[in-house]
Amino acid sequence: MKNKDLLKIAEEFGNPVYVYDSEKIIAQYKRLTNAFKQVKNLKVNYAVKALSNINVLKLLTNEGSGLDTVSIQEVQLGLKTGIAPEKIIFTPNGVSISEIEEAVKLGVQINIDNLSVLEQFGSKHPTIPVCIRINPHIMAGGNSNISVGHIDSKFGISIHQMPHLLRIVENTGMNINGIHMHTGSDILDIEVFLYASEILFEAAENFKNLEFLDFGSGFKVPYHENDIETNIEELGEKLSKKFNAFCKKYGKELTLAFEPGKFLVSESGFFLVKVNSIKQTTSTVFAQVDSGFNHLIRPMLYGSKHEIVNITHPTKNKRFYSVVGYICETDTFATNKRIAEITEGDILAFKNAGAYCFSMASNYNSRFRPAEVLWHKGEAKLIRKRETFEDLIANQVEVEL
Ligand SMILES: Cc1ncc(COP(=O)(O)O)c(C=O)c1O
Repeated sequence: MKNKDLLKIAEEFGNPVYVYDSEKIIAQYKRLTNAFKQVKNLKVNYAVKALSNINVLKLLTNEGSGLDTVSIQEVQLGLKTGIAPEKIIFTPNGVSISEIEEAVKLGVQINIDNLSVLEQFGSKHPTIPVCIRINPHIMAGGNSNISVGHIDSKFGISIHQMPHLLRIVENTGMNINGIHMHTGSDILDIEVFLYASEILFEAAENFKNLEFLDFGSGFKVPYHENDIETNIEELGEKLSKKFNAFCKKYGKELTLAFEPGKFLVSESGFFLVKVNSIKQTTSTVFAQVDSGFNHLIRPMLYGSKHEIVNITHPTKNKRFYSVVGYICETDTFATNKRIAEITEGDILAFKNAGAYCFSMASNYNSRFRPAEVLWHKGEAKLIRKRETFEDLIANQVEVEL
């Protein structure tokens, strides 16, 4: 998107505001499917948690994407797009069996990552096909919060528990139709995916009625020019070969599934904020903006480094700023960042604001969550209204005191 389009959106819809470029989302979807064109049956299930606005879900399901969900509410959001339930996979962890049963009633594919739940579920519903999430014990991912396939992780069923898993399957007579893993996010090295795939293939050999193998996600997207990213094309070529060879050995054309979040939506997003004030201290020049970690928590939670551009004055000489929010505790978006000289009132654009940004926003400090705008075919469409004071108190119940 061009600066002038973003500035016009900030003018029209106010700030802070999230903007998503639909063309980029679709381009990423096509890039991924193209990279795996050698696989006959490919299924991309967009990870709803990354950005769950129903218009974004619709955009992707219209392209043929399925959906990966982790809560019953995400399943319900997905179904609102009109997608067939069987194109949704439900991959919760730590939820009650009743939530899984609710998902069964909605007709979606169930993915189970816990032996105790598997045994309970299989005993009650032996005829419902189930996918198994394994934990391959691989340390992968950009930081510890998003590394989920290692030995200490709460996710998945350990590959070392395969004998117990198989015993449960045999005793309950349940039908395992898929094997799944997801080892982390921001994985730089495609060798990690290739190595993990061998573990998945080995696990899959234990089941005779499989329909799909789900390799999760974790593709690293670039955050700035020349940043490292997962080489999707190379991964596509190498993993497709391995997958096709496995299918031959298995004796069936299985479906290869992925569930990317970041890869599909991260780069499509811009978060626009206004600089309320410049504050010079003894050590630092702070640019204080009309937002905080209530709207964009990733820099504080994961140390993520979003590129920040002064779109009001993009050509001014660059100076060093620490960009901070208005929250009543430290909420630093960036430290000592080179940004074109800022004047109070300028609009800054945070890049890579599509994934895990709005979807992690909160009302902390009783601030409203921002509006969301979709830039679609050269037009700005409001896809979520900015909250109001009425939204903030809608569920509060005033009692007689
Ligand atoms: C099970 C599962 N699948 C897919 C994803 C999406 O990962 P990414 O956004 O890195 O593509 C996640 C992210 O947390 C996940 O936990």
